[in-house]
Amino acid sequence: MADAWEQLEKECGGCHNCQLGERRQHLVFGDGNRTAEIMLIGEGPGQREDEQGLPFVGPAGQLLNDMMELIGLDRSKVYIANIVKCRPPGNRDPMNTERDACLPWLRRQTALLRPKMIVCLGRIAAQVVIKPDFRITREHGQWFQKAGVWLTAIYHPSALLRDVYKRPETFVDLKEIQRKAREICARTEISAP
Ligand code: URA
Repeated sequence: MADAWEQLEKECGGCHNCQLGERRQHLVFGDGNRTAEIMLIGEGPGQREDEQGLPFVGPAGQLLNDMMELIGLDRSKVYIANIVKCRPPGNRDPMNTERDACLPWLRRQTALLRPKMIVCLGRIAAQVVIKPDFRITREHGQWFQKAGVWLTAIYHPSALLRDVYKRPETFVDLKEIQRKAREICARTEISAP
């Protein structure tokens, strides 16, 4: 399996399937535990991620770490990837053509990981992974199931940085994710109360 991940990362590293590949400093493949039961999926790299080649290392990433800590998780217990692997200029939303071009990589990551649970971070990830008409304001925190995998979405950490009034609802969603993880992720140690 380690070889399959190495192979996939190498192939993905040479990707120029869309125009985002022309401007990147680093492709951001993904990070975390490649045997995790829980997968987090964000939208796409920002400036810091583009500089470092790692997902969620900027301010949104710091908040994400804090959010995970609240429910007894950390990066050693989850795998983190994005819908698009290269930074959209000016942090604009990735275009549909870019999402479609990049999706085969995420599908292959998911196939290798075989997570029990996928947590989408924000609307874009939820619309790609859960359903195209996903409404984050109405449907965050709800559970969906596809091919035996439990799927949910929470507000993107960047949205929580911009609008602190969304944080209480997200706390409820996080506690529900913790509850569900305790129910279905037997190998994942969850340390928080
Ligand atoms: N926002 C995302 O969606 N992904 C990252 O990796 C960083 C910020």
